Amino acid sequence: MSDPRTSGGTRPVERAKRGALQSGREVRAMFGRIVPRYDLMNRIMTGRRDLAWRKMVARQVGKAPLVLDVATGTGDLAFALREAGAKRVIGADFSDRMIATAVKKAAHEQRTGTAFLVGDALCLPFADGTFDACTVGFGLRNMVSFEAALREMRRILRPGGRFVCLEMTPFRRPILGPLFRVYFEQGVPLVGGLLSGDLKAYRYLPRSVTAFPAAHDLADLMHEVGFTDVEYQLLAFGTVAIHTGLRPAE
Ligand SMILES: C[S@@+](CC[C@H](N)C(=O)[O-])C[C@H]1O[C@@H](n2cnc3c(N)ncnc32)[C@H](O)[C@@H]1O
Repeated sequence: MSDPRTSGGTRPVERAKRGALQSGREVRAMFGRIVPRYDLMNRIMTGRRDLAWRKMVARQVGKAPLVLDVATGTGDLAFALREAGAKRVIGADFSDRMIATAVKKAAHEQRTGTAFLVGDALCLPFADGTFDACTVGFGLRNMVSFEAALREMRRILRPGGRFVCLEMTPFRRPILGPLFRVYFEQGVPLVGGLLSGDLKAYRYLPRSVTAFPAAHDLADLMHEVGFTDVEYQLLAFGTVAIHTGLRPAE
């Protein structure tokens, strides 16, 4: 019998090393275009569950002194981290429009303890071992190399520092699968296209999830780049995953 994890002629961890379906330039431009309705679309698509998932990530990080939230977008995960007790949170994203929105939200909502900067996850402007924890929420799937991004996020963690990744994960359940697929591949692009005026961006979303490594393959890749204590939990009928790992103490 063929092993589904090794079908297609490529080992899962090799497949998991691939990156986003679009170039970095295309991804940055796409997120730049959808910024105005980005938060609203997240709430609608998930029935506001995205807020609860970010809180779960933030609880995993707890009261860490210094946290980097990579691909921070409009800053929602950075704000959740502060609310859960992180002392200082830096949010980095390569879209200057996303960062401008995060900065505006922080000022408007009078939030303290967060700072935002424009930066690429594949080349973070920080020395090795700077952060006590590093998070990435719905960002890894959009990066041009999953492996290079994971290595870079491990690099900026101090030994013993914690990495937490919140991401959509390819849907496998046979009963709910077709229903979810209709919702995700037809409903989401329709509503997202109408609200944001960018049908292309919300067509990209389901395709990018299908192309993303399965949760166990992502866990294998995390091991391979040097994280230890790798664990993951599936949420929302197995459509969302939270992976955690540690940079080993040296
Ligand atoms: C789906 S949004 C997630 C935003 C936010 N983390 C959240 O929880 O809503 C993906 C974000 O990843 C950012 N991104 C993609 N590739 C990146 C990279 N190489 N470096 C930095 N940010 C990146 C995009 O600009 C976008 O803001």
